[in-house]
Amino acid sequence: MASKTTVLYFGIQKGGAAKSTTAATTAYILARRGQRVLAVDLDSQGNLTNLLSDVDDIYEYSGRTALEAMKAIDADGEELVSRYVHPVSNGIDLMPSEDFMATLSRWLYREFERSYPGKNPGLVLRAALNKILQVRPYDYVVIDSPPSLGDQSINGMAAATHIVSLFEPSKFCLDALPRFFETVHHVRQQLNPNLKVAGILATMVDKRRSDARLLVETLQDDEEYGPLLFEQRIYRRAATGRLNLQGFATNPELRRAIKEYEQFTEELLQRL
Ligand SMILES: Nc1ncnc2c1ncn2[C@@H]1O[C@H](COP(=O)(O)OP(=O)(O)O)[C@@H](O)[C@H]1O
Ligand SMILES: [Mg+2]
Repeated sequence: MASKTTVLYFGIQKGGAAKSTTAATTAYILARRGQRVLAVDLDSQGNLTNLLSDVDDIYEYSGRTALEAMKAIDADGEELVSRYVHPVSNGIDLMPSEDFMATLSRWLYREFERSYPGKNPGLVLRAALNKILQVRPYDYVVIDSPPSLGDQSINGMAAATHIVSLFEPSKFCLDALPRFFETVHHVRQQLNPNLKVAGILATMVDKRRSDARLLVETLQDDEEYGPLLFEQRIYRRAATGRLNLQGFATNPELRRAIKEYEQFTEELLQRL
């Protein structure tokens, strides 16, 4: 990985924790500050693709997604950029995703391992990104991940310099944290010794619910996780939930939607 590039992996093995919303908003804020940003969607649901691109139909990218970029083992950087990196609004470049991303594992274990014996199936994304960064020296790569543990998340973490974990205050998410950090630990040991944890961001915090406050406090008091929590919380608010409808480019309520994320990004940059 070109040493100047910060690669942020947004994750938690839990659905509906604001992974995609946070990845998209952070990419937007960084790009607006003049940083060169590549956003990479590793979730077959294509939510990051939807949030950042102007197409209504993510299938417009079929055959030109992050999946095909990973499969193009023999392509050089120029080829990868021209086929799989798409400029979208707000000065961001996007490697999109759609349903076929779900076939990554099948390809890795049926074809890749046979054709490239000795190559590690967890390092396919990193290899592609390295080639891309040689021709496009992005300041930041922002990776959005699927909710389940699998080859997409392993590849994403193996390509990352920093992990940002999301914490949406629920019992399920609290239970997901140790499992998530176990995966981070495993990837660090096996594939990416320099991987750092930037922190845990509490998202979708409902100000009116005392149980939400209590769950965040529980995390705050935890010896291991407490110190990792970002001070800024992201509160549950309609304008933030509507980002997937309104987008970023012409959104009349954008300020309200992302104001806490501005502060979070500030804190994140200080921690990198
Ligand atoms: N701060 C927030 N307030 C209200 N709704 C939110 C907020 N953050 C995310 N959402 C909504 O919650 C849902 C899940 O968020 P999403 O980013 O898709 O999570 P994940 O990627 O972890 O599954 C989406 O419908 C999103 O619009
Ligand atoms: Mg998502």
